[in-house]
Amino acid sequence: LEVLAVASEMSPLVKTGGLADVVGALPAALRAEGVETRTLLPGYPDVIAALGAGETSLAFDDLFGGPAWLHEGRLGEDVIYTLVAPHLYARAGGLYTDANGVDYPDNAFRFAALAWVGAEIAQGALADFLPDVLHAHDWQAALAPAYLHYSGRPRPATIVTVHNIAFQGQFAKELLDDLRLPPQSFQMEGVEYYGAIGFLKAGLQLCDRITTVSPSYALEIETPEFGMGLDGLLRARANVVSGILNGVDEAVWSPATDSRIAARYDAGRLDRRAKNKATLQRRLHLDADPEAFVLGVVSRLSWQKGHDMLLATLPALMARRVQLALIGTGDKHLEESFLAAQDAYPGRVAVTIGYSEDMAHLIQAGADAFLVPSRFEPCGLTQLYALRYGAVPIVSRLGGLKDTIVDANEMALQAGVATGFQFSPPSAEALALALRQAERVFRDKETWRSLQVNGMKTDVSWRHPARRYAALYREAVSGDAVPSL
Ligand code: ADP
Ligand code: GLC
Repeated sequence: LEVLAVASEMSPLVKTGGLADVVGALPAALRAEGVETRTLLPGYPDVIAALGAGETSLAFDDLFGGPAWLHEGRLGEDVIYTLVAPHLYARAGGLYTDANGVDYPDNAFRFAALAWVGAEIAQGALADFLPDVLHAHDWQAALAPAYLHYSGRPRPATIVTVHNIAFQGQFAKELLDDLRLPPQSFQMEGVEYYGAIGFLKAGLQLCDRITTVSPSYALEIETPEFGMGLDGLLRARANVVSGILNGVDEAVWSPATDSRIAARYDAGRLDRRAKNKATLQRRLHLDADPEAFVLGVVSRLSWQKGHDMLLATLPALMARRVQLALIGTGDKHLEESFLAAQDAYPGRVAVTIGYSEDMAHLIQAGADAFLVPSRFEPCGLTQLYALRYGAVPIVSRLGGLKDTIVDANEMALQAGVATGFQFSPPSAEALALALRQAERVFRDKETWRSLQVNGMKTDVSWRHPARRYAALYREAVSGDAVPSL
């Protein structure tokens, strides 16, 4: 079975969040299931630089305002198609926004182009590759099923995966024609969404199968509270919606082989973790205190992630023997508030504003507990990395967090299956309680170690998720009914 994945990010080439990790890890995991995946990416400067010129296999005289080419390259065993379109992607800023964080004014065309070329490949534009499935990730790729639908030509099965329903790609209806969408597509059963053109809406409406990245989020997005306007559509299509958890790329996230950390370890050599904790404290100018309860955070700083709740509980936390090691970037107000907290609690709060894979790994290896207090979380990868690294996750009870962490309640502790702490609702009060409970367990070394070991022994690999994607692809190709959540 052959799949064309269409996405706007792919680790390690280009990444702003978990989407990249997933798109980067899936091809290898699927190969083990007999599925060959090729991935189509926008030709951002970093991607072109990393993959080299490659072979030109397709050319477009005018792809939404300029010439474009398709380059075929390889990253290890993965075949990657890079859409080289300087007028769309040769920019100095971020992937989606300029250096000031403002969306590029032509994002509609930047990602319509990606989807258009995906649809072309899916209909045989390349001599040597005709996929059985087009798998579109998030709104940036979601117009591909719409182009296929309206082309009137034979097409492969289509799947849209929602990594985050908060990002939908909404554009003015006046762009319809320029986006190469036919007039009849502007209706409720097509691309129309609250009077505008919705890229994600179009994909969800017109694809064969919808997936999201956890069973709980698959249910949540069918409700007004989490569906962000798309819950009605998702309820109507509930029979084709499923939730498949993300996995962890074990080649990148394994404490036994991680070259970015100070001391390598595994579940049988947990004592060696202390060296990572000491290194983390030293590197971040935290007090050298082995008995401090060190909380780790690696996150985008946005409303979704809930770190304002952590700020609200910080004064109470700082009254105890607790430290915070945070790396994050995003919302300017949150960045400033965390920097102010660092000033207020020297040696106790360490804040790094920015992006660093090295620091992300060291925090996972050195922190005692790892905090993910999200208001919504489709899957979440950092709590999975934390499980593997023996940093006990403290998470809100929703979305993928709910599905991946076993709360250390009395029964779970007795049964010896707990891996972390869940709290609900996502509020500063509930978070404060969970932190107190976690610290209490932390002071009971034996129980804490059992949580760490349980987490490290949990299978968070891609094996199971890849099997589910493979099964879903096969069903979509044969047109069979989808399995339940
Ligand atoms: P989301 O995709 O919503 O941001 P995930 O938990 O799925 O959340 O994935 C986040 C990914 O980005 C993880 O690989 C995490 O380690 C990484 N990450 C987030 N912020 C940073 C940062 N400041 N520095 C390094 N890595 C980060
Ligand atoms: C999104 C979600 C996150 C998920 C990631 C990869 O960014 O916010 O929960 O893990 O996509 O699927």
